[in-house]
Amino acid sequence: MKKIITYGTFDTLHYGHILLLQRARALGDHLTVALSSDAFNRIKGKASHFDYTQRRAMLEAIRHVDVIIPEDNWEQKRKDVTAYGIHIVIMGDDWTGKFDFLSDLCEVIYLPRTPSISSTAIKLIHSTPAQ
Ligand code: CTP
Repeated sequence: MKKIITYGTFDTLHYGHILLLQRARALGDHLTVALSSDAFNRIKGKASHFDYTQRRAMLEAIRHVDVIIPEDNWEQKRKDVTAYGIHIVIMGDDWTGKFDFLSDLCEVIYLPRTPSISSTAIKLIHSTPAQ
């Protein structure tokens, strides 16, 4: 069984996330999503609109996702790859090069980001008062 993992915050779940998860799962047989915990988001200086429980609930509703684990710190990635028997780490290409330090343990693939959509853009729309 070919096992895949991907990392992210997946706030305000959107089309770009769905395509990333669909394409990642199609490259293997089992997809684990390491979802940024609220504490880790604070460390990264990221404020999510939805908290961990809500973001997890959205991912649980997607059939391409097999398992969700929390991402709590920068260091856990090498441990995850070994502990979960991961064959491929997949990220969007805004992360190109940033996961190459795992390439002695598994394959690392960066998929093209879906244009014109992001959690940041969605949050901006919702924080802009209607004219
Ligand atoms: N992603 C993607 N296409 C997009 C947006 C995100 O393929 N349009 C991918 C990212 O490259 C990453 C994963 O989805 O591998 C999770 O990204 P995340 O940072 O949670 O989402 P963004 O929408 O990029 O959030 P932000 O605007 O806060 O950076």
